[in-house]
Amino acid sequence: MKVQITETVLRDANQSLMATRLPYADYEKILPVMDKAGYYSVECWGGATFDSCLRYLNEDPWERLRNIRRNMPNTRLQMLLRGQNLLGYKHYHDDVVEKFVELSIRNGIDIIRIFDALNDFRNLGTALDATMKYATPKTVASGCISYTQSPVHTVEKYVEMCRELKNMGFQTICLKDMAGTMSPFEAEGLIKGIKDAVGDMPVILHTHCTTGMAYMTVTKAVESGVDVVDAATSCFSNGTSQPATETIFYALQQYGIESGLDEKVINEVNDFFKPVKQKYLDNKTMNPKSLGTDSQALVYKVPGGMLSNMIANLTDMHAMDKFDAALAEIPAVRKDLGYPPLVTPLSQMVGNQAVTNVLMGERYKQISKEVKNYFKGEYGIAPAPVSKELQDKILGEGGEPIDCRIEDSKRTGEEFRKAKEDLGDLARTEEDIMSYICFPDQARKFLEARKAKEENIAPYTIEAID
Ligand code: CO
Repeated sequence: MKVQITETVLRDANQSLMATRLPYADYEKILPVMDKAGYYSVECWGGATFDSCLRYLNEDPWERLRNIRRNMPNTRLQMLLRGQNLLGYKHYHDDVVEKFVELSIRNGIDIIRIFDALNDFRNLGTALDATMKYATPKTVASGCISYTQSPVHTVEKYVEMCRELKNMGFQTICLKDMAGTMSPFEAEGLIKGIKDAVGDMPVILHTHCTTGMAYMTVTKAVESGVDVVDAATSCFSNGTSQPATETIFYALQQYGIESGLDEKVINEVNDFFKPVKQKYLDNKTMNPKSLGTDSQALVYKVPGGMLSNMIANLTDMHAMDKFDAALAEIPAVRKDLGYPPLVTPLSQMVGNQAVTNVLMGERYKQISKEVKNYFKGEYGIAPAPVSKELQDKILGEGGEPIDCRIEDSKRTGEEFRKAKEDLGDLARTEEDIMSYICFPDQARKFLEARKAKEENIAPYTIEAID
């Protein structure tokens, strides 16, 4: 028996513990070592890394990916893709999605884990087709289910989703428990059910330690036949991050289960990241709050990244005294929206609306553009019926959401060409154009800075002489 590990330190651990602020330069040196660890894959790109590179780190996300590829030639590099939302927070046209997937593979990605926040699988089709179209022999299209609990999310429903992913042509299935609320009991029922239904497909468990349940859940998942578990090198594990790689390795060994990991190498990886972590604790990029265990998340079903975001936003607004009230408002907003899983962009949407409701002292006095679009059906079909009252308020009495994908109703196929025109000589590559389509303001700033830097290569250093 074999259970393999996906190492998440470069992406999800980074994203969950320090709001994705880890620059490439901080981990470049360890990549050749990580390449020898024997991981199933290294999750290193996608999610919020792309946005963070452009917005905060003045890095070209594509260059980062190429650098990782160069330094880890033997490891499967994995990214997280939000289906039709790519790495942004809105739906892109099909031509953009196809091009993005093509460029991701061309720049070094092997495994594309694709999910839709609402589990509306119509939103995975374009990314899946593109993955197949541009696949190399190493490419894997992984269909991912956003796991959540609600009156409508039963084991039967999840098993049905897995069958659908298989029929669509995905090669592996990932259960993505972004809030860390999957209990050992639920993991057992789910994984056994899924294995029975689609046994020939590898099943992957992605969970977070937020509520303190992850190690128990992983144990049950292993006993129930899971094939791959996501984990983070131990100093970047726990809290809102994944369970620890070395710890799971140790436990698997006692079960007599092969993981393929090299013990010496995974320890060396952890030793490398210890001072990196300390640096970001010292400069407060890493909030000790995200390193603890919060069993309240079992009530609120709030993923780690969402918690740290809410803390950051409320701190900025000097309204941290409203934190508990905002957290308590989340389940109410979620119910009104038909129990969407709290994952990007729904987590932001629900979180921001809950904060607004609390700050305004009245529910839905102000409704965000995103929530309005959600009710119009632009994100897909809600898992359960939405609040009729709120729907009428947004769409007008008796208004109905669209019943097709938003791309089908609005598709122009012009997004890429228009972006290229907009950028003019700022764009050198298709990757530049794609960065701009995904994050226009941040990418333009980045590309302008790059151009200015190149034009200002001074022949000598000017020093003040006076
Ligand atoms: Co995650």
